[in-house]
Amino acid sequence: MWESVWGQGPSLEQTKLAMEHTLFRVSVFDGSRIVAMARMIGDMGLDYYIKDVIVRPEYQRKGIGRMMINELLEFINKNGVSGTDIFVELCAMPDKIPFYEKFGFAANEAQRLKMMYRVE
Ligand SMILES: CC(C)(COP(=O)(O)OP(=O)(O)OC[C@H]1O[C@@H](n2cnc3c(N)ncnc32)[C@H](O)[C@@H]1OP(=O)(O)O)[C@@H](O)C(=O)NCCC(=O)NCCS
Repeated sequence: MWESVWGQGPSLEQTKLAMEHTLFRVSVFDGSRIVAMARMIGDMGLDYYIKDVIVRPEYQRKGIGRMMINELLEFINKNGVSGTDIFVELCAMPDKIPFYEKFGFAANEAQRLKMMYRVE
């Protein structure tokens, strides 16, 4: 899925570890072929982080992305502490921001800091 939109993906070993530690993930199939995925990591109580929202190009603009984000938000609704406000974060390229704004996400003044840390 990663390679269908972003080029060379991470290693299988890294991906397996990431999936094992993912809180919740959604996959969409057309027959036996996976056509979209999204996943969420977090601590369940205070903070959730949406990762790897991917719809294969030929399946985009058909409502699949919306369906997946709604499923992720529903997971928070079912598992978060009732009556509290919970931080939901994600990182989006500028051209994808209008998609996320439809769900209530908004940019704030914080800047994303990142590095690729080499594991010895
Ligand atoms: C971003 C992405 C997940 C959207 O998925 P999608 O299935 O095409 O989106 P949907 O069809 O569910 O669209 C839902 C709504 O958002 C709108 N929308 C979708 N992509 C948009 C975009 N790039 N800009 C503006 N609006 C967008 C749709 O028009 C639709 O609006 P409507 O409900 O008012 O008609 C998909 O384009 C994708 O996988 N892109 C490549 C990977 C990527 O960049 N992922 C995001 C990482 S930040």
